[in-house]
Amino acid sequence: MRFGHFDDAAREYVISTPETPHPWINYLGAEEFFGLISHTGGGYCFHRDARLRRLTRYRYNGLPTDGGGRCFYLNDGGEVWCPTWAPVRAPLDRYECRHGLGYTMIAGERDGLTAEILYLVPLGTNAEVHRLRLRNRSGRRREVQVFSLIEFCLWDALDDQTNYQRNLSLGEVEVAGSTVYHVTEYRERRNHYAFYGVNAPPAGYDTDRDAFFGPGRGWDHPEVPFAGAARNSRASGWAPIASHQVEVSLAPGQETDLVFVLGYAENPPEEKWEAPGVANKAPARALLARFADSAAVDEARAGLKAYWEGLLGTCRMRSNDPRVDRMVNTWNPYQCMVTFNLSRSASYFESGIGRGMGFRDSCQDLLGFVHLVPKRARERILDIAATQFPDGSAYHQYQPLTKRGNHDVGSGFNDDPLWLITAAGAYVRETGDHSILEETVPFDNDPNDTATLFEHLRRSFHFTLENLGPHGLPLIGRADWNDCLNLNCFSTTPGESFQTTQNRAGRTAESVFIAGLFVHAAADYTGLARAAGKPEEVELGASAAARMAAAVADHGWDGEWFLRAYDYFGDKVGSRECAQGQVFIEPQGMCVMAGIGLADGRAARALDTVRARLDTPHGLVLHQPAYTRYHPELGEITSYPPGYKENAGVFCHTNPWVVIAETRLGRGERAFEYWSKIAPAFREEFSEVHRLEPYVYAQMIAGRDAPRYGEAKNSWLTGSAAWNLVAINQHILGIRPEWEGLRVAPCLPAHLAEVEVERRCRGAAYRIDIVNCGTGAAPQVTVDGHLLEGTLVPYAAPGAVVAVRVEV
Ligand code: BGC
Ligand code: NOJ
Repeated sequence: MRFGHFDDAAREYVISTPETPHPWINYLGAEEFFGLISHTGGGYCFHRDARLRRLTRYRYNGLPTDGGGRCFYLNDGGEVWCPTWAPVRAPLDRYECRHGLGYTMIAGERDGLTAEILYLVPLGTNAEVHRLRLRNRSGRRREVQVFSLIEFCLWDALDDQTNYQRNLSLGEVEVAGSTVYHVTEYRERRNHYAFYGVNAPPAGYDTDRDAFFGPGRGWDHPEVPFAGAARNSRASGWAPIASHQVEVSLAPGQETDLVFVLGYAENPPEEKWEAPGVANKAPARALLARFADSAAVDEARAGLKAYWEGLLGTCRMRSNDPRVDRMVNTWNPYQCMVTFNLSRSASYFESGIGRGMGFRDSCQDLLGFVHLVPKRARERILDIAATQFPDGSAYHQYQPLTKRGNHDVGSGFNDDPLWLITAAGAYVRETGDHSILEETVPFDNDPNDTATLFEHLRRSFHFTLENLGPHGLPLIGRADWNDCLNLNCFSTTPGESFQTTQNRAGRTAESVFIAGLFVHAAADYTGLARAAGKPEEVELGASAAARMAAAVADHGWDGEWFLRAYDYFGDKVGSRECAQGQVFIEPQGMCVMAGIGLADGRAARALDTVRARLDTPHGLVLHQPAYTRYHPELGEITSYPPGYKENAGVFCHTNPWVVIAETRLGRGERAFEYWSKIAPAFREEFSEVHRLEPYVYAQMIAGRDAPRYGEAKNSWLTGSAAWNLVAINQHILGIRPEWEGLRVAPCLPAHLAEVEVERRCRGAAYRIDIVNCGTGAAPQVTVDGHLLEGTLVPYAAPGAVVAVRVEV
């Protein structure tokens, strides 16, 4: 069952009922100002930091879950309804929500009156713009009262919902013209304020929540819009809101637009006041003036469209399967840009008040956007590297505002440093920009302790080599990619963090996954060392990788699959010797991606084990059998009920590793099958089971051991976006930048018969025609009519257009 459809030409997902199983959201903003917006207008917005600069309030664990937001109540001759359906939930004759690239449009119709709201954050603007378009399609004149409503957050979103004794006496507003200014704490150390204005003279306003709602009422029935009269209330402490009352009179067929601007402004300290105790409103007035009419909103929308078309033009495809096209052309790269902007901070599953940017998360996210925004990817790599410690280890997280490492979480996740190598490798292969390796970067943000980026990467690589365990495999530390495999934690205290607690000195527990990752990263490391002119590191890298692969062969192979780890006692994890957790997906995917076992048949056996043991109709589960009780020696992985999250859920991040591994064996049919089982556009048709947005990946789909098998959780901010992009673009379509050229080596399923791809890389454009004859023979590649030896298309000069034809 579907709750909408894709409009591919418009690059929109069109939701046709407000009653989706969960709020289906979108993101507004691409620079410094962001909004989360659900299909009924719920959500919140913030400037740069979802916790510290929150403009509007969102209630955690509220009911309905989709609270807050930007509300428009229409009082149409005494009947009150919302074009977004919620929060009043009066029945609509028509409802539609279009989530597009950086904007959302929600339209409702009742009794011949249509109301369409366009929400966007224009480029270069610290504001959400809400354009309400009312159209009278009936045969009679309509007198409509519009009541807008937003509720302010007192900036620090965590403090806002906990520190009531202080906050309820803090709130302050100013009202000037048709704009409400939220100036809480502006009197002291804040030089910023928020505002909500409209481009029409209001008949009234409210800024005090109690006055607007009335005693005991909720968002579905506030007194003011139902009574049809604003109270012109002034907030003083308690809960400041902003609401405008605007009177609209529409002749039959007439249409009118109102433009609301919800913005953020900052003043230099010396220009803080325009009169004693009166905030300087010049920046807000300038912003409001820019959106004084509806044409400016159209322009802003055209600007956004051009921005996204520009980005997404980097890689475009056309095939006979529209579901593949819509993932590759629009939704997968769009989600990758959202993970770039927000990392794991703010979604309907990440609260925006929790963790900062993950070291490994940010490095892996980069794989999905490096081709779209290479300059910003370069900055990101340098920021991440600056949080590394001198011994090569890394803070597990860092704060986006300060870019400093997060002391609360600290370090000790021993896979982290290696991901920096894969990020830098992806960047240099994409751009050819070797100069990044020479950039001077501090350790732990200490300006007195710096080295080149290459030296950072060298220390990352050597960190693994200096931290090997009894079998010559990398020590796991607090955890590896799997945050919940905590082999040194041994926690028996409820509520204690599995990630920051390490109760035993960890010099025995080893990770086969990190071993695979090391070999995988070594390919990039040796390429980078060559680019940096370090022949000794090229050699060292290659021999260290060979030794590591040998250690995996000797101690990391269980007979039919790769072992997962050795625990603190030296016992095997992910082995047939185990009662539960016998086979884990991570080392199978990673080791084969790294090329381990390709020559001796173990790769194929490992992947066949994945097929036999981990494959389900809803994707590949993390391990089997699921753990049914808590094991202190394994940690958080066993604290989840079977089938959820790291305890045998379908982790969408790991599935693409197996997809890529299958393409290394040339098994295109299987690779595609695995990819399509978790690709949202393919899951759209059973949205009632999947339940989350059918246009973006979720972190997890409940595994077969769970009662809610097949149900997705944690959409949007997940490494699944980047890795699935890598899997489909670079390994199934097979187009990937390598050191000396663009590799064009598709590994397709039979049904994708004809595929055209346009890929921009290093300033040249490659028009690639893939003809899939399904013969199984090696691909034949011609470039501008000349047959190539092999599949590596040499890089062309910037500006060149290269015609590539591949017969598979
Ligand atoms: C959660 C894991 C999650 C991780 C993310 C842990 O606390 O329980 O399931 O993947 O945090 O960092
Ligand atoms: C989510 C975390 O953000 C990521 O870093 C981790 O690898 C996965 N969970 C698996 O535990």
